[in-house]
Amino acid sequence: MPSKTLSITDNRTGKQYEVPISDGTIRSMDLRQIKESKDDFGLMAYDPGFTNTASCRSKITYVDGEKGILLYRGYPIEQLAEECSFPEVAYLLLHGELPDQGELQEWSSQITHHTMVHENIKKLIDSFPHEAYPMGMLMSTVAALSTYHPEARDLRDHQNRRLQIYRLLAKMPTIAAYAYRHRMGLPYVEPSNELPYMANFLTMVFSMNNPSYVPHPVIEKALDVLFVLHADHEQNCSTNALRSAGSSKPDLYSAATAAIGALAGPLHGGANEAVLRMLRQIGSKNRVAAHIERVKKGELRLMGFGHRVYKNYDPRAQIIKRMAHEVFEVTGSNPLLDVALELERIALEDEYFVERKLYPNVDFYSGSIYQAIGFPANMFPVLFAIARTSGWLAQWEESLNDPEQKIARPRQIYEGHARREMPVRQSTSIPE
Ligand code: CMC
Repeated sequence: MPSKTLSITDNRTGKQYEVPISDGTIRSMDLRQIKESKDDFGLMAYDPGFTNTASCRSKITYVDGEKGILLYRGYPIEQLAEECSFPEVAYLLLHGELPDQGELQEWSSQITHHTMVHENIKKLIDSFPHEAYPMGMLMSTVAALSTYHPEARDLRDHQNRRLQIYRLLAKMPTIAAYAYRHRMGLPYVEPSNELPYMANFLTMVFSMNNPSYVPHPVIEKALDVLFVLHADHEQNCSTNALRSAGSSKPDLYSAATAAIGALAGPLHGGANEAVLRMLRQIGSKNRVAAHIERVKKGELRLMGFGHRVYKNYDPRAQIIKRMAHEVFEVTGSNPLLDVALELERIALEDEYFVERKLYPNVDFYSGSIYQAIGFPANMFPVLFAIARTSGWLAQWEESLNDPEQKIARPRQIYEGHARREMPVRQSTSIPE
């Protein structure tokens, strides 16, 4: 018997059990032996929303929610945001180490050379209504990629998996840019092999067929930092969706489609858009207090506040807040920032938020910057999705290599009818 154990007394039967503890967890399956009677199914753990259940082992991202610490592969997010580009961070997440010069060149070249999409993918995007929600276009188009790359279903071949990883990472910005331009009624701009990742994305989005278009370096850097901050966040809702869908072993595009769908909701990746709408609705600093009162009455949630894991200031929000001022020096100030700052000031002093440890999260300030750069609010979750793809890919690869992983298939507490007989029914055949 291992030295670290948990003793359980089942007060229904008086029986005692010793359950091993390892890595600060007990295995739910060890509870199954605890039965009230011989034909009892055995004890299960009930945990809607996985609030206290570890679903995997992972070496990718570490979050200490009490202290407000976030590490990718051991490196603090503050240092990565300061010193690394998004492609470097994507490499780090997948490979576990930062790339050297040669590795980065090879990685960047692979991504650059997979940015184009099949002409029919453009036609698919053309076929969406002009008012189509960009996350819906992104999700449907990524799903469609599985029909263009049928070999992606072979998950056993490492090289083949790597090819799909390059493709998805490379094509997400292209699809996102095309979704934006479709809504705007603008012609698509082809990806360029001459431009680095972020400049290429900004050019595909904002260039008006102007060959000399060059994004402002402050804007390019700011978006790069935002992508670094959004790259991974351990077992969040969309990553869990990706791992869960991926556990039945479909191709990468199908699993990523599930993740994009999960990210779209306002409690997750859609929160950045919801924050902007909320700030617009509040409109001015003097209406903030009234909004807070409505939140406290339970009429609304304060979007961009609160987190399942962080019970302290989200370190990503701190970085974004600092960066906002640099961006606004270039773009001109965003008046909604004043509303956001006032919201934060009042909320952080209010007992309701203090008691519940509700702090600004990553989405609270990101929208103000995206808006200043020129993105409409409905594109904010798409930007999140491009960045989070890097984390999804690392988590997907890790899950496929994890011998402990099984098809995700939770149990339930059944509350429906016990077996019963069908009532005698009138004949339903249609008279001739
Ligand atoms: N505004 C007002 N009250 C809140 C908020 C909020 N934003 N978030 C949590 N609470 C309250 C909640 O009502 C509950 O109060 P009580 O104990 O009186 O019932 C308590 O705080 C605990 O909340 P919970 O809903 O049990 O917490 P959770 O861990 O299930 O939810 C969350 C986490 C992020 C979904 C939630 O905080 C939320 O809805 N926030 C607003 C949406 C948002 O900003 N989401 C982005 C999250 S960060 C980036 C990402 O993951 O994409």
